[in-house]
Amino acid sequence: MSEELDDKLTDIKTNNEVERQEEITLRPKKLEQYIGQEKIKKEMSVYIQATKNRGEALDHVLLYGPPGLGKTTLAMIIANELDVDIHTTTGPSIEKSGDLLAMLSELQPGDVLFIDEIHRLPKNVEEVLYSAMEDFYIDIVVGQGPEAHPIHFTLPPFTLIGATTMAGQLSAPLRDRFGIVQHMEYYTVEELTRIVKRSSEVLKMDIIQEGAYEIARRSRGTPRIANRLLKRVRDFAEVSDKNAIDEEIAKTSLDQLQVDNNGLDQVDRKILTMMIELYKGGPLGLKTIAANIGEEQETIESVYEPYLMQLGFLKRTPRGRMVTKQGYDHLGIPFTED
Ligand SMILES: Nc1ncnc2c1ncn2[C@@H]1O[C@H](COP(=O)(O)OP(=O)(O)OP(=O)(O)O)[C@@H](O)[C@H]1O
Ligand SMILES: [Mg+2]
Repeated sequence: MSEELDDKLTDIKTNNEVERQEEITLRPKKLEQYIGQEKIKKEMSVYIQATKNRGEALDHVLLYGPPGLGKTTLAMIIANELDVDIHTTTGPSIEKSGDLLAMLSELQPGDVLFIDEIHRLPKNVEEVLYSAMEDFYIDIVVGQGPEAHPIHFTLPPFTLIGATTMAGQLSAPLRDRFGIVQHMEYYTVEELTRIVKRSSEVLKMDIIQEGAYEIARRSRGTPRIANRLLKRVRDFAEVSDKNAIDEEIAKTSLDQLQVDNNGLDQVDRKILTMMIELYKGGPLGLKTIAANIGEEQETIESVYEPYLMQLGFLKRTPRGRMVTKQGYDHLGIPFTED
């Protein structure tokens, strides 16, 4: 790799603020610009229309699925289509019920409160949220010791949109309070190709169909990864004086970045090879996998495992995770059943 290119890549990787800003510009603002997730779009547009006709607040919505599939984007679009403001926060940042009250007291009737990583909401806050969601009030105890007394706050009708990568970690009482529950699916290569083409347009970079397809194919079903790879490939294209991204530059740059044909990255491959080389392909518990790879269990469970399972390279059995024959085949390691 040339030094110039090397510098440029390091630059992008460390320049998170720029990436964050670009992610914002790449976000579609309207439901019709949101590519894929057809079932969710169809349903949501009905609910949004009905809500607007009635002049009420939309029912609470839970969005769950692997990171980067467009949960935050969809929440913003829903608020935009409803013509209301969106107030965003995250589960772990609401430490006390007072923090929740502060957020809730800013809401206008019909507004959206978006809580990202809602599975990480502290238990005591979660319990206060129940009455807020169900009957639009909260009771909070203020003061200490003998001074302590409950105060009753009524709230305007609002819509809570919760997003989580770990639906399994959500308590049943919280999950049951969402009238609308949507599971986000991995995108098809065709949909990702459209996303890559749309993003190139926004970034003012020419791309031809085969180039977009090549990036899409290697984006592990995820728009955020597609956009990230597009930006990396754009840099390779610019440095090699190409004025459009074609199949060749997409292929060579993605090979350099070690993103393989199925979109597996180094961590995905590390999981499979580690399981095969050290444990004959499993079965293996999540804890052992995480310890051997040096990643959090939650990351393995919400990011890597779902995609490896979707490709059929990994399966879950009652005794643990196992690499499948397809997984061995992909890595070119002979599969032996025993
Ligand atoms: N359906 C879509 N059409 C076009 N672009 C999309 C779509 N979904 C997501 N994107 C793009 O992918 C990027 C990531 O999406 P977003 O931040 O909404 O993911 P997320 O599911 O909230 O991820 P996380 O779980 O990490 O919070 C956005 O910048 C957006 O441009
Ligand atoms: Mg998000």
